[in-house]
Amino acid sequence: MKKELSDFDFSFQPSIDKRQIDELATMRFLENTENVVFLGPPGVGKTHLATALGLAAAEHRFTTYYVNCHALIEQLKKAHYENRLPDKLRMLGRYRLLIIDEIGYLPMDIQGANLFFQLIARRYEKPSTIFTSNKTFSQWNDIFADVTIASAILDRVLHHCNVIHIKGESYRLKERKEYMKQKVQVANTLFDKANP
Ligand SMILES: Nc1ncnc2c1ncn2[C@@H]1O[C@H](COP(=O)(O)OP(=O)(O)OP(=O)(O)O)[C@@H](O)[C@H]1O
Ligand SMILES: [Mg+2]
Repeated sequence: MKKELSDFDFSFQPSIDKRQIDELATMRFLENTENVVFLGPPGVGKTHLATALGLAAAEHRFTTYYVNCHALIEQLKKAHYENRLPDKLRMLGRYRLLIIDEIGYLPMDIQGANLFFQLIARRYEKPSTIFTSNKTFSQWNDIFADVTIASAILDRVLHHCNVIHIKGESYRLKERKEYMKQKVQVANTLFDKANP
């Protein structure tokens, strides 16, 4: 299901400065070739906000591509083994907005980290990239299997970057809790009816 910025309930997530998201929605960050990083625990809206900005960018006719980090690494490895890595990197380098979701959810081997670095180096100071991760920047060292590669990646990602730390409760859990509350209410009503 498409999730837009207007579907996001900012009152549920007060750690997010709505003005910062409104500013990103103007697409000036794309004109200024800035990156965006959403950091935070599961269910707090990182993918929602990243993809909503992607939708807005596409509406503004910026070429946009969304990819999950693990799938991206698999694509890069496949391209490498099929001797078409330069073409693949060129193609990924051309999108005005690339969204790389779920950095650090699955471990990355040294080859994956190397390929990821090549992509980041190619896009550095050119078009914008949005990243999401449930790991803090200090934990990024562990994601990329090698400290040198990790710091080279972080250096480039953070050079012109809007970082949004989300520190809240999971919206998925909230929905689950509300669902369970409704179920309990229905059960209580049925019980009361059966036991007048
Ligand atoms: N503040 C919010 N208002 C409305 N819907 C929200 C909000 N936060 C999250 N959601 C919804 O909750 C679900 C989980 O959010 P999302 O997938 O963006 O979380 P995430 O931070 O990417 O989590 P994960 O780290 O597990 O990938 C989605 O359906 C999303 O649309
Ligand atoms: Mg997500």
